[in-house]
Amino acid sequence: MDELRTKYLDAIGGAADEAALEDIRVQAVGKKGEVALKMRELGKMTPEERQVAGPKLNALKDEINSAIAAKKSGLADAALDERLRTEWLDVTLPGRPARQGSIHPISQVTEEISAIFGDMGFSVAEGPQVESDWYNFDALNIPPHHPARQEFDTFYMHRDTTIEGGDNRPPHVLRTHTSPVQIRAMEKTGAPIRVIAPGRVYRSDYDQTHTPMFHQVEGLAIDKDISMANLKWTLEEFVRAFFEIDEIELRFRASHFPFTEPSAEVDIRCSWAGGTLKLGEGDDWMEILGSGMVHPKVLQSAGVDPDEWQGFAFGLGIDRLAMLKYGIPDLRAFFDSDLRWLRHYGFSSLDVPTMRGGLSR
Ligand code: PHE
Repeated sequence: MDELRTKYLDAIGGAADEAALEDIRVQAVGKKGEVALKMRELGKMTPEERQVAGPKLNALKDEINSAIAAKKSGLADAALDERLRTEWLDVTLPGRPARQGSIHPISQVTEEISAIFGDMGFSVAEGPQVESDWYNFDALNIPPHHPARQEFDTFYMHRDTTIEGGDNRPPHVLRTHTSPVQIRAMEKTGAPIRVIAPGRVYRSDYDQTHTPMFHQVEGLAIDKDISMANLKWTLEEFVRAFFEIDEIELRFRASHFPFTEPSAEVDIRCSWAGGTLKLGEGDDWMEILGSGMVHPKVLQSAGVDPDEWQGFAFGLGIDRLAMLKYGIPDLRAFFDSDLRWLRHYGFSSLDVPTMRGGLSR
């Protein structure tokens, strides 16, 4: 019995984990373990012998069981200590900063405009910002010495003298309007067509409401019987949806563009009183777009037969609309990249404008 005790207490002391401990338990005090076998021998003993051996065997069994229990809790403590040592978290690390970026008002307003015209069946077309003289001018019925060329304050690119005859070709320009996309879109898909083309345009001009780079959305609708009435309805519908108010006053002024006939410029009633810009009141008018019926020569330049097709076009200033809608008084601040301005006027990336979900916050 002393041998058994030494054997098992040593084994328990050296057990590496709970599985080893369980094996030892089965071998020692399990139903068929060594202690049980010894218990069976009690039957063959004399009553006097049994009286001595019985309690001793029971005591041995208890001793082994409690040694196992003690070892088990020791192993559990060690396992916990090991986890505490390896699985830790530095709670003194600084927290994650709140969102830093925001959507620029121009991007937001471009999305709003696209949502409104998308709802009216217009899809989005694009063209390059460095444009050829042909697309920016000639194709739009503005031939080389036309006075309208002076009105645009155009930025010219260097002539490409590396190509044959490059010296004599007109230089490319930074497009002065989005109207060249009318031509590109019609060349691509022909008529009927209903597109808008938002993008950057460039003119050498700088004051509170002009920056050398600004944004326009071109609109173009060509079909068999589109008239000036459709143009007026479309623009009024757009302006009402965009500003989300009915008390908007538009003024259509007879005008002239080489690429439309007849032509109209559209102003919106506003007030600058006290340095804040307000809509639908006051005695000021802010020009927001130029428009008209697409000139037959323009259709022709784009390969569309003017005897068969007709329609309207307009060019709308995105920056102006953003200033009016969100009460931003100085256009130049849009492009200063001043973080305080961007945080104040910027939009959350989750504020995606849709016609059903609401256009603005
Ligand atoms: N392209 C003209 C401008 O930038 C606007 C316009 C577009 C006018 C389409 C008529 C038709 O001033």
